Amino acid sequence: MSLKDKLITILVTGSEGQLGNELRALSSNFPYCQFLFVSKKELDIADPVKLEKFFSGHSIDFCVNCAAYTAVDKAESEKEQAFHINAEAVGILAAVCHKNKTQLIHISTDYVFDGSKTEPYTESDKTKTLNVYGASKLQGEEFAIQNCRSTIIIRTSWLYSSFKSNFVKTMLRLMQEKESINVVNDQLGCPTYAADLALAIMRIIKSGNSRENSGIYHFCNEGVTSWYDFAVSIKELSGLGCEVNPVSTDQYPTASKRPVYTALDTQKIKSAFPVVTPHWKDSLQKCLQLLNK
Ligand SMILES: NC(=O)c1ccc[n+]([C@@H]2O[C@H](COP(=O)([O-])OP(=O)(O)OC[C@H]3O[C@@H](n4cnc5c(N)ncnc54)[C@H](OP(=O)(O)O)[C@@H]3O)[C@@H](O)[C@H]2O)c1
Repeated sequence: MSLKDKLITILVTGSEGQLGNELRALSSNFPYCQFLFVSKKELDIADPVKLEKFFSGHSIDFCVNCAAYTAVDKAESEKEQAFHINAEAVGILAAVCHKNKTQLIHISTDYVFDGSKTEPYTESDKTKTLNVYGASKLQGEEFAIQNCRSTIIIRTSWLYSSFKSNFVKTMLRLMQEKESINVVNDQLGCPTYAADLALAIMRIIKSGNSRENSGIYHFCNEGVTSWYDFAVSIKELSGLGCEVNPVSTDQYPTASKRPVYTALDTQKIKSAFPVVTPHWKDSLQKCLQLLNK
């Protein structure tokens, strides 16, 4: 099948989240694609009957699953709900995709790793989770591959966007409200602008070789930083006066244990597909420019 000859139909589940919104924002750049954006209200991925009905009413080439339970701390007390959406529902969605010859592009997380490495994690590194959210996402990966072998899983990290709530928007708000804030400086990772991930997904779809290259990939922006340095950059690029103090994880207890190092190696995705990974500071600047408009 030549993708150039055919209108490609792309279902985007969980379309009201950060990534779903970013895909919608760039959809007009892809006139040969027909996008079906569905929110949780319109299509609950945990509802097998509704999924079957939806798929039987459309001929869907790709399903980009942006639906997820993403409340990392809350997941510790809502384990069942986190596993229901991030694991069981993903398994159901994958089975429906397989039945309908739809390629599933599913998004996962750096929190499938325990952070014990000191250099970027590759796709073949051993997974080990530290929290419920990570465990639920890891099981989702397994169910997706089991039920739909053509699945592409993209693990990403520290996602932010001009849409919805995220670290960047929280920092901007706090920096305007307070004279000083504390931010942890001993967790390292790669901030990722959801707009860059959305473009990478579209390039994978456009590549025409996504079925031959199914499997797990890592995608994040270039460069590794701490939450503290990320916050300092947000402050400097926005010209805000708030004092940002570095604190250790011990001084900032959260319900969920987080890995101390989750930088992701992106060589595999860049070799398989025409995907680019801009530096996190350049992407942060783009996002802040949009937010300041
Ligand atoms: N955010 C991060 O820092 C981060 C880091 C690494 C990986 N990821 C992964 O990246 C992906 C996209 O994340 P995101 O930040 O865009 O997430 P998000 O903003 O939290 O959006 C997730 C969307 O999924 C919807 N949803 C929840 N349950 C659903 C269901 N049963 N059926 C259909 N939709 C449902 C949510 O709706 P409601 O809001 O109404 O519940 C929300 O609109 C997720 O797979 C996430 O695990 C995120």
